[in-house]
Order: sequence, then C-alpha cells, then structure tokens
Amino acid sequence: MSRRVAILLSGGGSNMVALVRSMTGDHPARPVLVASNDPAAGGLTRAQELGVATAAVDHRPFRGDRAAFEDALHEKLIAARPDILCLAGFMRILTPGFIARWEGRMLNIHPSLLPKYRGLNTHARAIAAGDTVAGCTVHEVTAELDDGPIRGQATVPVRSDDTAQSLAARVLTAEHRLYPAVLARFAAGDATPVTLG
Ligand code: GRF
Repeated sequence: MSRRVAILLSGGGSNMVALVRSMTGDHPARPVLVASNDPAAGGLTRAQELGVATAAVDHRPFRGDRAAFEDALHEKLIAARPDILCLAGFMRILTPGFIARWEGRMLNIHPSLLPKYRGLNTHARAIAAGDTVAGCTVHEVTAELDDGPIRGQATVPVRSDDTAQSLAARVLTAEHRLYPAVLARFAAGDATPVTLG
C-alpha cells in the first residue's frame, strides 16, 4: 500500500512539482493533496494541471489566530487521509499544537545547510559570511524552527560573483533533486540520510 502524501505550499510550487512528478512507478508514495494558505498560490494551479486534488485555507481572515487557521487547515488535510506531510515553501509558522499532530510524519525543505542559517535570507547570509559552499536541507519538522532531524542535504558551490538571487536559483535546482530522494526513502521507512553533491 503506497503512502499518501499531502504537500503544503504558499508560492509557485516548484518543489511540489518535483515531488509529484517523482511519485510514479514503484515509488512507495503517491500525492493525495496540495494545500495552501493562499488561495491565489501559483502552486495550486500547477497541482491541478498535474491532476492532484487541491485545497486552500486563506490565513488572513483568521487575523493572527494561528490555532483557528490550523484547525481549518487540519480539517482539509485529514479529509485526504495523508500519511506524510511535505512542507514545500509553506511560509506560515506552525504552532507546537499542529506540529504535535504530525511530528514524525512531516518534512520541510530549507534553503541552507542546517544547522547553519535557520530562518530567512539564507543565501544573502551565506554570501556575506564568505561561505564557499551552500545548499539545502530536508528535515523532520519539530516545534523548534528549522531544527528537526536531518533527512538529507545537498551542497552547492558559492561562486565569487554570486548574488543571493543567483545562488538561490542554483540551490532551488538542488532542492528539486534532494526532496524527491528524501521522500522516497522516508516513505519506505529508510532513515538513512540522503547526501547529494
Ligand atoms: C524554496 O526555496 C524552499 O527552499 C523554501 O521556499 C522555496 C519554495 O519554492 N522553503 P517553491 O514554491 O517550491 O518553488
């Protein structure tokens, strides 16, 4: 029985596309839902084009009541009966209450080599620090932001003429390789971290 995967996004969904396209053949998982906090997220349209069911819960009417927003999101999620949640550019901070419902079954991709550069503006920070290597990390989501067990990392060289934008573009390409590789192992119950150069 293949594992049922729901993907949460807030933007264009390029990671979602890579994940959905990877779940074919003998892959141990299949996408069952793509959900967003933004009804206008481009990723929702791309998911529909790929034939994946979608849902949107606009967070704005909840006016900062995170728990109420998450309860509405949770209702949409459990209707699809997912076994695994993949956060893919989901830009809302999740409360410990929501995370507790899914801990051990929820992954996130972060555009740095954690534990370096938790939070935002990771590429600008790596360049400012003079790093020669950057990259991305897929980790299990826990209550601590960008801090859960690491399930995979991909490294990307930093070039002397890199801007945050040019580095972000190369890291994003690495994300599209890393996340599907990690999901395939995670869905198969294989905790061996993925390492990509
Ligand atoms: C990626 O850079 C990812 O690292 C970050 O948000 C971005 C998502 O991009 N969490 P996309 O929506 O998957 O194209």
